[in-house]
Amino acid sequence: MGRTERDASEGATRDAALKRRSAKRGTMSTVSSAVSETNAPAQGLQGAMPSGPGAVVGGVGSQAGAGDFTGHLFDALPDHVDVYEVGPRDGLQNERTILPLDAKLAMIEGLVDAGIRRIEITSFVNPRWIPALADHMEVATKLRRREGVYYSALVPNLRGLDSASRAGMNEVAIFMAASATHNRKNINKTTAQAFETYAEVCREALDRGMRVRGYVSCVFGCPYEGQVPFENVWQVARGLLDLGVYELSLGDTIGVANPRQVAWVLRKLLAEGVDLSQIAVHFHDTRGTALANVAVALQLGVRTVDSSLGGLGGCPYAPGASGNVATEDVVYMLEGMGVETGIDLDQLPAVSLEVASRLGRELPSKYTKAHVGHCARTGAAV
Ligand code: HMG
Ligand code: MG
Repeated sequence: MGRTERDASEGATRDAALKRRSAKRGTMSTVSSAVSETNAPAQGLQGAMPSGPGAVVGGVGSQAGAGDFTGHLFDALPDHVDVYEVGPRDGLQNERTILPLDAKLAMIEGLVDAGIRRIEITSFVNPRWIPALADHMEVATKLRRREGVYYSALVPNLRGLDSASRAGMNEVAIFMAASATHNRKNINKTTAQAFETYAEVCREALDRGMRVRGYVSCVFGCPYEGQVPFENVWQVARGLLDLGVYELSLGDTIGVANPRQVAWVLRKLLAEGVDLSQIAVHFHDTRGTALANVAVALQLGVRTVDSSLGGLGGCPYAPGASGNVATEDVVYMLEGMGVETGIDLDQLPAVSLEVASRLGRELPSKYTKAHVGHCARTGAAV
């Protein structure tokens, strides 16, 4: 969809949203007041709450109440949200077709040209475990870097950190799950061993002046263990913060979370004293709830949303995991809600479609599909 068409269909909504938000500025000064409103006692929705692998033990049904948000929807929306792009890493790590180096570089550069300012470009993990990213060194060294962009990469240990550092990375991300079984399957470590390893990684990275981001996977459910108690989430989250990560990305690794559960987990973390500026959300869209989950996270004031171009994504060691929420879809929703992202939505479909063509398959992004349909109907260039 080109700018003209989008403006016609969305402009009124966006203007109304902006006017409404600026009008209420004086009355809604802090996020915490919005959060406290969601602490309203339960009002009998337990029976309606979903159960299954996504449900947090002792959680949603007993904590959140019906009508929590009535009259307060989106009062705490931030003005600006950082979209943290994981397409070149999470997006490609599970693809059967291995994207060649030139296509990876074009993807990253296209995303940055469109306005992405935080991007995970690869993983310095064992290439036997993630063959699709075996060219991590080439990607990181051949990339044309742009001033003002944070380029990051996953590292699982000191060896990965060392490679990342030699490749000129100044930000890395460490990752572990709130589930012991997933840690064993994904990084071949117990939770305690993972902490030992990451303590060394963080010490060394911080000594070298690098920023470290921390992922907590399986926050909302685990493919092996099912329900994940909040205590496990908090144990990993607190441990990573203690190691010095500047941000926690809360992973719905297998896409089982629902909006109410997201609100519940976020409120629990805020109640533990985690600052909103330290929280990012990372939703896989396996069951179609990712955008709704993003909307709820924004309502609670979260300012960083992970997403992946085209809706690529998945973890080979989390059976059933499929794509991340699509960057195009997130930017469309955020900008339409009056939340600035700094990203030019019009530039994303071409980058997304080029990656799709190199991978030889259609990508899940709904926005890009709509854009292609619009171009076909109107004869506009994609
Ligand atoms: P291991 O086999 O236990 O490692 O794997 P090891 O220490 O015993 O070493 C075995 C071999 O691997 C040795 O080589 C090492 O040198 C080599 P050999 O002597 O046999 O020739 N090795 C390495 N090579 C290159 N780079 C390295 C490296 N480390 C060791 N960094 C390890 C342990 C952690 C390395 C392995 O399990 C691994 O690479 N796992 C990565 C799994 C992964 O990347 N999963 C996907 C990312 S997580 C995710 O997607 C979730 C997320 O998106 C959030 C969410 O959605 O929730 C982040
Ligand atoms: Mg992921």
